[in-house]
Amino acid sequence: ASNDLWGGRYAEGPSAIMREINASIGFDRKMWRQDISGSLAHAKMLAHVGIISTEDEAAIRAGLAGIAQEIEEGRFPFSEALEDIHMNIEARLTERIGEAGKRLHTGRSRNDQVALDVRLWVRDAIDGLDAQIAAVMRELVARAAEHAGTVMPGFTHLQPAQPTTFGHHLLAYVEMLSRDRGRLADCRKRLNESPLGAAALCGTGFPIDRHMTAAALGFDGPTRNSLDSVASRDFAAEFLFACAMCATHLSRFAEEIVIWTNPYFGFIKLSDAFTTGSSIMPQKRNPDAAELVRGKTGRVIGSLVGLLTVMKGLALTYFKDMQEDKEGIFDAAESLALGLAAIGGMVRDMKPQVARLAEAAGAGFSTATDLADWLVRELRFPFRDAHHVTGRLVALAEGKGVDLAGLTLAEMQSVEPRITDGVFGVLTVQASVASRTSFGGTAPANVARMAAEWQERLG
Ligand code: ARG
Repeated sequence: ASNDLWGGRYAEGPSAIMREINASIGFDRKMWRQDISGSLAHAKMLAHVGIISTEDEAAIRAGLAGIAQEIEEGRFPFSEALEDIHMNIEARLTERIGEAGKRLHTGRSRNDQVALDVRLWVRDAIDGLDAQIAAVMRELVARAAEHAGTVMPGFTHLQPAQPTTFGHHLLAYVEMLSRDRGRLADCRKRLNESPLGAAALCGTGFPIDRHMTAAALGFDGPTRNSLDSVASRDFAAEFLFACAMCATHLSRFAEEIVIWTNPYFGFIKLSDAFTTGSSIMPQKRNPDAAELVRGKTGRVIGSLVGLLTVMKGLALTYFKDMQEDKEGIFDAAESLALGLAAIGGMVRDMKPQVARLAEAAGAGFSTATDLADWLVRELRFPFRDAHHVTGRLVALAEGKGVDLAGLTLAEMQSVEPRITDGVFGVLTVQASVASRTSFGGTAPANVARMAAEWQERLG
């Protein structure tokens, strides 16, 4: 049989393969709420301007409410033959209310309908993700406040660099996540125009009121070009980039959790709640949740690249290629949501090993920069000369198997005679972090102040 909804000129139905490659109902059913919202706004507008009667509008409203309930309760008869969520709902509406259901699609096309539904879905996803990111930030800030003065090694190249604090390290991620929220907010602002009423591609001759539907659906206004309205998915690509960037931030944190839980580091412990054992090695505690946050980032980045690749060769306006936008969008949003939940859980769960962190913070001649700075400050060395002298002192200490503070004053003076025992005051990890009071620096007092500022900002 041919399709009831568009099959007027068709004698035969599609082949099974055609049906399978064409159908999106398996995934786009996720947009049923958005589809119904759009139809309700459209029907109300049609009645308002007199294109359909108020009785028809009332029947459509009641019919769509019934359908929402059917879907909610898992009773809706989804059909692959009806291709997508739009046709499934419209066909069911007509089944339920008859004639009036067939009037709903006046002045509308699936092209503007799907563009609308995806925008609404992405907008909802942005709101959900924004709240989740804020929640993770609150967890990070709480732990940062607790550990503003907990020293740990700061790394570059994963080599010991300078001592920092656990709180400062966590607040670095707070800054990143805050920018991620900003990117999502920008994206939301730009996508918040309604494509409904662009119809197939050229608009419509019916006296529709696009401003009315836009306002009813919470948009700032209607899109301004009908061709652009049905052809563009840059809002979705932007969303996917914001997701990919946020997922990348989570992935870097996840990588650090993997490193920190490694017993050779021993910087943090995760509880049983966020680790798994091995089926053969009884001693194992694997940070699988962190590994999966890192791993799922690949899917999110893949969705961004996937959508750009789908779009790059498309002339205007709509092509069915664009049906391939949805699974990536859904998957990226869901993977990121799960990643945020897992990271939030691990931040709450992790136990920083304060003594081990302090021991590691002092290893690897991590206060060598402090020594060089002392030579500049106290002996008026040019920094380059101070760097050279300190390098020689590090080599001396390394040869003797001690750290910098383990050298005697006489040994130091064998390299640079003007050094006094005042130098030992800057070689401890505590002195090092406390000295770094420049704005944004690692000093515990700075970190505590920043954490308090964030606490206030996040509420
Ligand atoms: N399922 C389609 C999609 O996701 C809806 C739009 C169909 N439009 C069309 N002209 N066939 O893109």
